[in-house]
Amino acid sequence: MKQGLYSSYVFTDKDFDYIRALIGEYSGINLNQGKRELVYARLTKRIRNLELTDFKQYCDLLRSGNQEELIACVNAITTNVTSFFREEHHFGFLAETVVPWLVNQQAGSGPAKVRVWSAGCSSGEEPYSIEMTLRDSPILEKRDVKILATDLDSNVLQLARQGIYRMDQLDKVSDAKRRKWFLWGDDKNLGQVKVRTELKSRIYFRQLNLMGPWPMHGPFQVIFCRNVVIYFDKVIQKQLFQRFADILAPEGYLFIGHSENLFGVSDRFRSIGRTIYRKIN
Ligand SMILES: C[S@@+](CC[C@H](N)C(=O)[O-])C[C@H]1O[C@@H](n2cnc3c(N)ncnc32)[C@H](O)[C@@H]1O
Repeated sequence: MKQGLYSSYVFTDKDFDYIRALIGEYSGINLNQGKRELVYARLTKRIRNLELTDFKQYCDLLRSGNQEELIACVNAITTNVTSFFREEHHFGFLAETVVPWLVNQQAGSGPAKVRVWSAGCSSGEEPYSIEMTLRDSPILEKRDVKILATDLDSNVLQLARQGIYRMDQLDKVSDAKRRKWFLWGDDKNLGQVKVRTELKSRIYFRQLNLMGPWPMHGPFQVIFCRNVVIYFDKVIQKQLFQRFADILAPEGYLFIGHSENLFGVSDRFRSIGRTIYRKIN
């Protein structure tokens, strides 16, 4: 029987355990008991769209190996909250400390490579904020700069590539940067802004599951992985930071989220304060 818009769907412990295990294995996201309501709320829309009657039917669809639905399910479960210049001090540090280091360590070696990775970039505000910061650093002008921006969620990556945002999302973007890097919508696009093509040109958006193989070899001088591992358990975090250390250049910089830390997770980085780390080995 088709459920109406306000109907509730039967959601048993068995259904929750199945979804929890599947998502955990696929993405590393740890859905503990406290996330049960979140799972219900996020997946109800899928069940309704697919015209299924309950979570058991939905789990059966996933059990059948339907890849398209697995991706839709993961997309629905991920939390994508982000903003331009979120945790602003990171960008001040990037401009004032990291950029001079990038230039000095490679002085005299031609158009040296600068490789930055925004891991878990969501809808693009983070890599665009990184790029606005790097573009404002004239000493980097002659460098071969590339920013890899990856996420598991294919929906947010599409938004990131489009680079279209509401004007009120530019709260923390200075007037000068707004004028320089955004186009203003009019008529039916009033209230929207679009990232200029030039700001996109050195950013490579790719879908990548941090739990899976990484096709790139690095090294990266800088990795931003902010507000991503908060959803993973400690075992997964340990494996991930081991891999980040392996792909970072010596003394490379790692930026993590405001409620994350590497205590008891990795001894391959030293803290240099306020959720910024450097690789030590
Ligand atoms: C809360 S957002 C953080 C966005 C941005 N880094 C920031 O701090 O504003 C977390 C992002 O991590 C992504 N994510 C979660 N699990 C992932 C995985 N296994 N591989 C890659 N990305 C993942 C989610 O899709 C989501 O877009």
